[in-house]
Amino acid sequence: MTDRRNSSSGATRRGFLGAGLAAVAGSSLASERTRADAAPAAEAAQRTVEPFYGAHQSGVVTPQQAHTYIAAFDLTVDKRDDVIRLMRRWTRAGALLSVGEPVEVPSAKEYSDALDPADIVGLGPSRLTLTFGFGASLFAKDGRDRYGLSSQRPEALVDLPKFPGEQLEPARTGGDLFVQACADNPQVAFHAVRQISGLAYGLAQIRWVQTGFVSDYGAGKTPRNLMGFKDGTGNPRIDDAGEMAKFVWVGDEAQPWMRGGSYIVVRRARMALEHWDRMNIAFQEQTFGRKKMSGAPLGGDNEFDPIDLAKTDANGDPLMPENSHVRLAHEFALQGSKILRRSYSYNDGANVIAERWPPWRQGMEFDAGLIFICYQRDPRSGFIRIFDKLSRFDMMNQFVTNNGGGLFACPAGVAEGEYLGQRLFEAGA
Ligand code: HEM
Repeated sequence: MTDRRNSSSGATRRGFLGAGLAAVAGSSLASERTRADAAPAAEAAQRTVEPFYGAHQSGVVTPQQAHTYIAAFDLTVDKRDDVIRLMRRWTRAGALLSVGEPVEVPSAKEYSDALDPADIVGLGPSRLTLTFGFGASLFAKDGRDRYGLSSQRPEALVDLPKFPGEQLEPARTGGDLFVQACADNPQVAFHAVRQISGLAYGLAQIRWVQTGFVSDYGAGKTPRNLMGFKDGTGNPRIDDAGEMAKFVWVGDEAQPWMRGGSYIVVRRARMALEHWDRMNIAFQEQTFGRKKMSGAPLGGDNEFDPIDLAKTDANGDPLMPENSHVRLAHEFALQGSKILRRSYSYNDGANVIAERWPPWRQGMEFDAGLIFICYQRDPRSGFIRIFDKLSRFDMMNQFVTNNGGGLFACPAGVAEGEYLGQRLFEAGA
C-alpha cells in the first residue's frame, strides 16, 4: 500500500484554502451544479455527484441516499469571526467532498498530514450531500447573544415545546450547529462528517452524532422502516417545484439569509421492536392505517391509492381507525399542513434492561428505530402542529419513544465564492 503520508505533499495534495476549490470549479463536474435541484429519482440513481452549490442546500429535495451520518456541534469560541472562519472552511470542504476530492484538515501546523483521506480512496462521491443548519442556541445561549446574531433569529426557529411521552436526553438533543451527510456509501458519509469535525478543531466540538440507513432508495422506491411498513408514500413530490416552494422552502416571510432555506426537525425515535413483533399484522395495520405488504391505505388496494377517510366497514366503523397514524397525519395534510419526510432507520445495537417490577424481566433490548427527519417552511405549521396531536392520540406511540434530536434552520444554498450563512453573519449587529 502506498504511504500517502509520505508522498502526499506537493502536486498530489490540493491546498486546503485555494487550489482544491479551483479544481472543483474547473472540473467537468461543474455543469452538474447548474442542474435543477429536484431531478427525477431515476436520473439521480444514474449519477454519482449531487450539486453542492445552488439556490437551495443539497440533501433536502435530493432523492434519498442509502446512508446518513448526522452531527450536531457546540461552538467553543466567543467571537463571530471564529464562527465565520468555520463556515468558510465547511463551505470549501462541502464543495470538495461532494465531488469526491480530499479535504486538508489544518491542525497545529497549518497543513498537516495528520488526517489522510485514504479511507475513501476508490469510493467516489457516492451522491454525497451535506446539509448544514443553525440551532436556536447560535442566536442566544443561556441568555447571552455570543455572536451578535439575536436580531437575526427567525421567528419560526422556536424552542420546540415539550411533547407528551418524549424522553429527550440532553446529550442527544440540540446543538449550535448541525450537519447531515447523506451518501450511497456509509463510509463516504462518515468520512465527510469526520473531516467537517476535524475542521472544527478548536472552534466547535461534537455534541451528538447519529447514523442511519434506508432499505431501498433512489429510483422512486419507498423504503420500509424497521416496523416493516413503507415509509414515505404520502410525501409531497420532491420534483414538484410548486409544492416544494409552498411547503419546504422559506419565502419572503423570513430574513434574507433564510429565504430559500428550510427548517429541519430531527427526532431519534426508538421503537419497542420486541413488543411490536408480538402484535398480529391486522393490529399493526390498524395502528398505521395502511397495509403492511402493499402499503395501500386501509380500504384501498395499491400503495398510491387515495386515502378515503370516510370509508366504513359493515359496522359503520371507519376503515382508517380514528387514532391510526396515517389518519391523524393525513387530516393535517387535508387542512394544508404538509412536511417533507426524509427519515432514516437506525440500529445502535442493544441495551441491558432490568425491570423493577414483577416479573423482574432482565435481558437485552434493541436500541433501534427511526431517525425521523422532516423539512418544512415553518415548523409551527409543520412538525409542531402535526406532532402536537400525534403525540397525544397516535396508536403508534405505545411502540415509539423520542429520545433526542432538534430543530435547526438550514439557510439558503451557497453560490460559488460565498460561504454558508454569509448573509446571516454579515447582517448580524
Ligand atoms: C417512529 C416514528 C414514525 C414512524 C415509524 C412513522 C411511520 C409512518 C408510516 C409507515 C406512514 C405511512 C406511509 C407514508 O405515507 O409514509 C407515515 C405517514 C406519515 N407520517 Fe409518520 N411515522 C413516524 C413519525 C411521524 C412523525 C413524528 C410525524 C409528524 C409529526 C409523522 C408524519 C407523517 C405524515 C405527515 C404522514 C403522511 C400522511 C398522509 O398520507 O397524508 N410521522 N408515517
